[in-house]
Amino acid sequence: MEKLIIVEDNKEIAGQLRWGLCKDYEVFIAADRVEALALFNKHSPKVITLDLGLPPEENGSDEGFRCLENIIRRAPTTKVIVITGNDEREHAFRAIQSGAYDYYSKPIDISELKVILSRAFHLAEIEKENSRLQSNLAQHAPTPGGIIGQSPAMQEVFCSMRKIACSDVPVLVTGESGTGKELVAKAIHGLSNRKSEAFIAINCGAIPANLLESELFGYEKGAFSGAHNRVQGKVEYAHKGTLFLDEIGELPLNLQVKLLRFLQEKNIQRVGGREDIAVNARIIAATNRDIVKDTEAGTFREDLYYRISVIHINLPPLRERGDDLLLLANYFLRKFSSDFRKKVRRFSPESIRLLESYAWPGNVRELENKVQRAVLMSESAILEPESLDLSHKSVKERFITSAKLSLRDAREMVEREMVIAAIKKQRNNMAKAAEVLGISRPTLYDLVKKYGILKQLEQELA
Ligand SMILES: Nc1ncnc2c1ncn2[C@@H]1O[C@H](COP(=O)(O)OP(=O)(O)OP(=O)(O)O)[C@@H](O)[C@H]1O
Ligand SMILES: [Mg+2]
Repeated sequence: MEKLIIVEDNKEIAGQLRWGLCKDYEVFIAADRVEALALFNKHSPKVITLDLGLPPEENGSDEGFRCLENIIRRAPTTKVIVITGNDEREHAFRAIQSGAYDYYSKPIDISELKVILSRAFHLAEIEKENSRLQSNLAQHAPTPGGIIGQSPAMQEVFCSMRKIACSDVPVLVTGESGTGKELVAKAIHGLSNRKSEAFIAINCGAIPANLLESELFGYEKGAFSGAHNRVQGKVEYAHKGTLFLDEIGELPLNLQVKLLRFLQEKNIQRVGGREDIAVNARIIAATNRDIVKDTEAGTFREDLYYRISVIHINLPPLRERGDDLLLLANYFLRKFSSDFRKKVRRFSPESIRLLESYAWPGNVRELENKVQRAVLMSESAILEPESLDLSHKSVKERFITSAKLSLRDAREMVEREMVIAAIKKQRNNMAKAAEVLGISRPTLYDLVKKYGILKQLEQELA
């Protein structure tokens, strides 16, 4: 039942109101301003009726207005219905101007007042829902380039992105696979003065080494057999825009030299050409490799590393982003639910626990894929753990990433999980389970006893 505070000093009227309204609302009566505010603080009702003529001066209205102001200041969305004597119209207008929701003149007709009250509660409910949606929206408002993240680690990333977007210095974006490196590169481009020019991406790891050079720098007619025409490379296409060199760690050494030359001279030569072609492109490179190690190992040129990493943005793995995990999970749930026209609304508490216990080695991309699949598979409005398809991995991931776990703990956990799995799979046939596990039956019984497995199996069967 909704709570309703009635501020009315006349005991008789207060009693009548309580009697008339107590079936619909949980009614609290206050006889003066102090009492009204105390009740208000305690119950924070959405709606209040307020008689303006409060003691000490029954016939004045100052105390009533003071009470109205106090309430509106504390909670501006509270619906205050001011009750006035029937010759006090000017008070009514003043009250509305001061933030009252409506007014009602005595004598009070309960059924009329009920209509006003129910409209007030209804409006308060809509406003609340609306502000909830708004704050959700604000929370999920895509920060630069649709990148979602409220964690301090991601806020820091956004901050660096904004700072460096408008300069032309090269940026190196690092992070585990699926952490959003390409997204960040695009967002930097989108924040920059080059945003209306091209964003050209090339994946240095996906193109065979012998084709990469002409892909990057283009070639002249006749440069090699089959080169019938002059062709521009990606670097040239990125002129005035941004060139995104994905997986730069895979760039062969000879091309590293050529890229370095471009970064220094700001011009290129096509394959088979002699002409220097000036290109003004901003470079953003990305890698999930430990490129410093690569420079030490000699597979990546140190001078090139320094050139491309003037600004270094490192994306934290998803497991280090705290609540961003659930923010992203919910975002993907809504997105795919609408994309696939499904009515999946939310994760069950168990699913949330599962999401949180999983280590997400494939980071945001893996989360996106898992939620996409789950939404497709789900047949109900609430996503259950089964559709997430994580359970078997989560146990493993949990202890690999848990620093508190000793090797022995880990071994015992695996042992326990495997014994349970084998017994279940063999439908409680212990001889078969022992065989599958490659142990003797007495050993299996020992393990079952040691880990209290029977109790668990019984519980699951019950
Ligand atoms: N913070 C984020 N908010 C919303 N979507 C994200 C976020 N991070 C990543 N994604 C999404 O996750 C997917 C993977 O992102 P992206 O391709 O940028 O990662 P990556 O680091 O380049 O991965 P890889 O190392 O595998 O190339 C994309 O679909 C991207 O839109
Ligand atoms: Mg990528």
